[in-house]
Amino acid sequence: MKNTDPQVLIIFGASGDLTTRKLIPAVFDLYKRKMLPENYAILGVSRTSITNEDYRQRFVIENKYLGNDQEQDVKIEFAKLIYYHSIDTKSLDGYESLKNKLNEFNSFGKVIQNYVFYLSTPPSLYKIITNNLLEVGLHDQSQGWRRVIIEKPFGYDVETAKELNKQLQQSFEENQIYRIDHYLGKETVQNLLVTRFANTIFEPLWNRNYIERVEITSAELVGIEKRGGYYDGAGAIRDMLQNHLLQLVAMTAMEPPTRIDADSIRNEKLKLFHSLRKMTPEEIKSNVIRGQYLESTINGETFPGYRNEDGVDPESRTETYVAIKFFIDNWRWADVPFYVRTGKRLPTRVSEVVIYFKHNHHHLFKQRSLEKNQNVLIFRIQPNEGVLLKFGLKKPGSGFEVETVNMDFLYDDLSDAYLPDAYERLILDCMQGDAALFARGDSVEASWEFIDPILKAWENDDSIPIYGYPAGTWGPENIDELIEGESGWRNPCKNLTNDGLYCEL
Ligand code: BG6
Repeated sequence: MKNTDPQVLIIFGASGDLTTRKLIPAVFDLYKRKMLPENYAILGVSRTSITNEDYRQRFVIENKYLGNDQEQDVKIEFAKLIYYHSIDTKSLDGYESLKNKLNEFNSFGKVIQNYVFYLSTPPSLYKIITNNLLEVGLHDQSQGWRRVIIEKPFGYDVETAKELNKQLQQSFEENQIYRIDHYLGKETVQNLLVTRFANTIFEPLWNRNYIERVEITSAELVGIEKRGGYYDGAGAIRDMLQNHLLQLVAMTAMEPPTRIDADSIRNEKLKLFHSLRKMTPEEIKSNVIRGQYLESTINGETFPGYRNEDGVDPESRTETYVAIKFFIDNWRWADVPFYVRTGKRLPTRVSEVVIYFKHNHHHLFKQRSLEKNQNVLIFRIQPNEGVLLKFGLKKPGSGFEVETVNMDFLYDDLSDAYLPDAYERLILDCMQGDAALFARGDSVEASWEFIDPILKAWENDDSIPIYGYPAGTWGPENIDELIEGESGWRNPCKNLTNDGLYCEL
């Protein structure tokens, strides 16, 4: 196990939704698994004026996302690690008091001077907070290390992402900046690298000679929930594609890193992002489809259309669905189409990476249809996490008829499987100074370089349609037209092995 130094986690935005739902529960799980160092504290920072005791009560003891009812005693013990300090994060005035407060952590018997600053705030505060930390010397590493975790969205387009990188790098070195993308914290996403590079049977086939196409889906059952204000200015492409889904593309398509460390992995990802072929406005018209969900009634329940959601412009042209076809211009992937789609209010919640292998050159056996008898490897990211391989088997009986069958592995079958929440894994990595699963500044910019022309085309050309789709369906009617050939997109179900069925809400 790696060494974890004594440290304080300072959470800006301590009374926010992410802190309640994800951050404090993730540290709680680390606490239960005895992964926290002996000298450890969390300091919540935000404007709300409440006492330590009240904060502990509300955000730990009564936090419904934290543990279960039987764990009340553990929660009470854990709460003792948590402190609260109220400042107006926008104003420099409070930062001296923050510094003094941090000095109080000496009372643990050991001076704790290693700090992780977690910016769980609106992006408009990133620059202000990091500047203020710089002004009062809290960036200074002479007494202990300093790291800063930045939440997405990282920029709004390529220009703003570059600007943000520049601003952050005025206060912190690149190796102190941890840009979080929670998809990289998922066990099943990390497993893409392991399956590819730890098995002799897959890697030799992982290229244009054997792979026909790659399909990546991240479908969500939910709508935009209460996030209309944010989402209407973002849309599916900024919310999911530029970050989470391009990270999935990178894990699927990157070259093997020379070592499993932050630099080697992130160098390969950068190369991959640079190889994504940028599309011309004409190509964007035919290779990118956007959609927006419409009101619909499913099983007697009526779901509102996107434009009727709170905080959304009634004439909004923000996409809640995007499907894209693109190519990777490198030796391994030349001419292999990649298809990626994501959307809100689809029939089920499912994320997966699907590798379609090419057909044999010579068809020896009787097959029902070529399409149905294709080798397909499916990495199920969530839910029902697992891996499934489809292959042809002789159908018992006379003759030599081929039937496609499934061979599957489910994480649930591992008796000692503990799948840590993505935030739990990522916070621990940052505590230990391992940035391998965090996005590096240059690769964030490179991923925006690929996305930017699409955003510009949509902005500049009103004739590019945005298709409505009834909530609870698989998106605009024409999405199958993107896929070369006749097969269309796979219809994944909640259960990995319920394959090929159309899942209803
Ligand atoms: C977030 C997006 O980053 O990821 C949300 O802002 C989305 O809109 C969420 O719902 C999806 O995450 P997961 O882990 O549920 O697939």
